[in-house]
Amino acid sequence: MNNDGRILICGGNELNGSVCVNGSKNAILPLLSTTLLAEGTHTFTNVPDISDVGGFLEVLQCYGLKFFWDKSKKKITVINEGVNEEDVPPDIAKKTRVSVIALGPLLSVRGHVKLPYPGGCGIGNRPIDLHLKAMSKMGASIFISNNYIHAICKESRGAVIDFILNTVTGTQNVISAAVLSKGTTTLTNAALEPEIVDQINYLIKMGAKIRGKGSRILVIDGVSKLKASTYRVMPDRVEAATLAIAIAGVGGNVVVKNLDPAYIQSVLLRLEACGVHVERGKDFFKIKSAGQFDASNITTLPYPRFPTDAQAQFMAIMCKAKGVSIIEETIFENRFQQVPELQRMGADITVKGSIAVVRGGKSLSGAEVGSTDIRAAASLIIAGLMAEGETVVNNLHYLDRGYDQLDVKFKSLGADIIRE
Ligand code: EPZ
Repeated sequence: MNNDGRILICGGNELNGSVCVNGSKNAILPLLSTTLLAEGTHTFTNVPDISDVGGFLEVLQCYGLKFFWDKSKKKITVINEGVNEEDVPPDIAKKTRVSVIALGPLLSVRGHVKLPYPGGCGIGNRPIDLHLKAMSKMGASIFISNNYIHAICKESRGAVIDFILNTVTGTQNVISAAVLSKGTTTLTNAALEPEIVDQINYLIKMGAKIRGKGSRILVIDGVSKLKASTYRVMPDRVEAATLAIAIAGVGGNVVVKNLDPAYIQSVLLRLEACGVHVERGKDFFKIKSAGQFDASNITTLPYPRFPTDAQAQFMAIMCKAKGVSIIEETIFENRFQQVPELQRMGADITVKGSIAVVRGGKSLSGAEVGSTDIRAAASLIIAGLMAEGETVVNNLHYLDRGYDQLDVKFKSLGADIIRE
């Protein structure tokens, strides 16, 4: 067993009370990449304490930036006194594949980048061909050798770019590269995820000229200089979706605070289709569930449709739902890794390509299971909360990449859960 501990759960307790959502992992990472674009002191609040943030801060440090992370205040200060000419050592760059979002800013501010090609991960190959094509259109010469990306760009210039599919970090790289480029960049078929709007909000606060935020067409007029500023990170909609699904599955009555429920409307609508009661407020929602509910089908799609990052969690509760659920994963080619572990807990799931058929009505039984990615870890915890008997969840480094004390949140709601 690895040294990141394990979570022990005795399933069956209802969840009651209220819980607050943390800041968003998928928002703070692109926000941190924007600190490469402007000298000065950048301050971010509502920052979650997760290892992906630590990993990316190490990358920024290699480029000469300094940071102070006050975890008790959920606050990060990044000081950019000039980006150096260094490259990130492979052991650091490989820690988090998201280092690829340094590509756009670095091509813009220093004109060269050498990064390990961010390999795939458990959930899929994670190609970055669209990122590279877009950077080339903006003036970069890029070649791959010895599994490294070598990119040189004498002067990044505005371009007309169209993405053949929606890529979140691809969109974020183009935005970062365009804000200081010469001329105007038009990006069509941009991704719509709210974390992109968060990045745009901060860039506009820094003095960037960006039109069309929240739409598929972004028009960015390059400016000569940006100014560091302060920004509060948006709430984590995937954590909120995880909590909503868990409460529905286990049963209970919980208010989830600090998030506009519109961000996870697609998930709440699915839960209502299962017969779960949902109340929506301005910056909170309430889930009331007797722990008995109908099965429902889902297909994961780009925002605002059902998020791939909530698929594994939803699959866990479909194991208990009354009826059969068809789950189609259209975003990543290998995002059913939680299935064998759920099957060891008694789940009846058949997988064929991108489709998983879940025959519900099962009461799961506790087992020792291993996480295989961030959201699979959350899925197994939810299964353990519903199961009879004791569940042990291992490989918690995956969970720690994207969740800030999820086990403590469930414990505060009445779950019999402990991390050792
Ligand atoms: C972001 O990943 C998120 N990560 C992922 O969250 C999320 O699952 C994903 O978007 C989809 O919503 C961060 O924001 C840090 P994509 P990203 O580029 O940007 C294909 C989590 O659990 N594609 O939107 O890497 C790709 O293979 C993580 O929090 C290309 O073909 O995902 C995939 O099928 C997991 N070529 C689809 O597009 C490219 O150049 C969407 O990927 C880029 C992407």
